[in-house]
Amino acid sequence: MAKAVVLFLRVCVQLLALPIYLLSLLGIWDPFCKKIFFPFFIEKITASYNQKMSGRKQELFCNMQEFAGSSGKLTLLEIGTGTGANFQFYPPGCKITCTDTNINFQRGLSKSMAQNQHLQFQRFLVAPGEDLNQVSDNSMDAVVCTLVLCSVQSIDNVLKEVLRVLRPGGVFYFLEHVAADSSSWSYFWQEVYYPTWKLVFDGCCLTRETWKNLEQAKFSEIKLRHIQVPLHWTPVKSHIIGYAIK
Ligand SMILES: C[S@@+](CC[C@H](N)C(=O)[O-])C[C@H]1O[C@@H](n2cnc3c(N)ncnc32)[C@H](O)[C@@H]1O
Repeated sequence: MAKAVVLFLRVCVQLLALPIYLLSLLGIWDPFCKKIFFPFFIEKITASYNQKMSGRKQELFCNMQEFAGSSGKLTLLEIGTGTGANFQFYPPGCKITCTDTNINFQRGLSKSMAQNQHLQFQRFLVAPGEDLNQVSDNSMDAVVCTLVLCSVQSIDNVLKEVLRVLRPGGVFYFLEHVAADSSSWSYFWQEVYYPTWKLVFDGCCLTRETWKNLEQAKFSEIKLRHIQVPLHWTPVKSHIIGYAIK
């Protein structure tokens, strides 16, 4: 019965979003989404997300400097950098390599770079997290992924790459929205919105159990917490936050 209600409501949402489905069928939505809509949307919501999450992000990244090598300058790779929403939380002198699959965040990214001159920007790679062959083995003290593992093709392949590029003892920080408790109303609405949300928001999946991939990856230690974030009336309130050591 519950499944039938989900399917019914799902179709209702799909009907409301019919113009987008039609544009997608015509091959217009995907390029429009990647070039214009998604970069615009991320730029607009980043400030308010960061405002709500700044305490969480400060707490998450507060031990980052401890992972710096003997030079004292942390080498950091950020996967799915987007507009650079995390730059303000990184320690001074940090040497950053940014990667993303979408080159259209340039406007927001340039703004964040200008506002964060305490960092040393090293390289910008257009590369999927699943294949970071331009980054050497064991070369990074830290890797960061925030709100990215919901959209990648393969979480497991991204985590394999994270483990390859991290030096032994290096750290992987994550902050991701995930599937809610399967008996909750939040999960019910995640199931309802799933296909339309994925289409509208550039492949973002609402019901990934990302903590399972993290727990099964071959990190030596993992600190992971499930939290609810104050994104009321959205299906992305359930998050995981933490870090894992290679
Ligand atoms: C919701 S945005 C988050 C951006 C940023 N990390 C933040 O916290 O604001 C998701 C980002 O992941 C990128 N992305 C999607 N799939 C990816 C992949 N396979 N590898 C690397 N980045 C990817 C998108 O282009 C986008 O920049």
